[in-house]
Amino acid sequence: MKLFDVYPRFDIEIERAEGVHLYDKEGSQYLDLYGGHGVISIGHSHPTYVKSIKDQLDKISFYSNSIQMPSQEELADKLTDISGYKDYKLFLCNSGAEANENAIKLASFHTGKSKVITFKGSFHGRTAAALNVTDNINLSAPINMNNFPVEFIDLNNEDQFIQAIKGNDVCAVICEGIQGVGGLDMPSNEYLKFLRDKCRQNNIILILDEIQSGSGRTGKYFAHQFADIEADIVTMAKGIGNGFPLAGLLIGPSIRPNLVCLVLHLAGAI
Ligand SMILES: Cc1ncc(COP(=O)(O)O)c(C=O)c1O
Repeated sequence: MKLFDVYPRFDIEIERAEGVHLYDKEGSQYLDLYGGHGVISIGHSHPTYVKSIKDQLDKISFYSNSIQMPSQEELADKLTDISGYKDYKLFLCNSGAEANENAIKLASFHTGKSKVITFKGSFHGRTAAALNVTDNINLSAPINMNNFPVEFIDLNNEDQFIQAIKGNDVCAVICEGIQGVGGLDMPSNEYLKFLRDKCRQNNIILILDEIQSGSGRTGKYFAHQFADIEADIVTMAKGIGNGFPLAGLLIGPSIRPNLVCLVLHLAGAI
């Protein structure tokens, strides 16, 4: 076996899947209660999804973001519409970790600060080193981009948040709609409202990571929408691609477009 041994694997060889079922080589059927770890939002091999991907591949599979792609525009319209984030703009990338990296960079550019607050038990991705080993000043950012100070605080603890922002150096707080990997802890509606107010008052970007809890899995498009608040940036992945490697950020109108362009340029996207 030539695949690098990272994950212990079940002794099952899946050949195909359909809806909520997986089938192995012998034709045994399995009920997929795992949903491809939160990725398969509309079921395996959904016919509409398969047709859309095939149709697109027949036309063009990839080109630089520096040309107009009608399918991207259409996706942005549909996502902002279905999510209720109507006056937000979409930036597309490939993975959840990338979406969060871009969100944090944007927050740092926008506020001129660099500290990030996050929560004990959180999971926001696995990347770290790529930019650190990149020797191109145009791709790193002016505000200490390679080295964000981070403070982990307890979820739903208002006092710890107040303490953590005292130095006036916080650019962003990043919070999952529901902690997935951390064990299904979630911010209360009151706490999300508290974060929303405090971020607004202190020039801090509220990033809500809906990579696992988004795409309609909770009954609202994003889990945080039960609290009736809007993030400055929402990050998405997994369920928006249903298996196709797709991720994105919904970026609020308060984040200035010229800075957005600059950061996305630095991220190598344009
Ligand atoms: C809440 C959350 N954020 C970020 C990520 C990272 O996403 P990706 O694996 O697409 O980089 C995950 C992945 O499980 C996640 O659950």
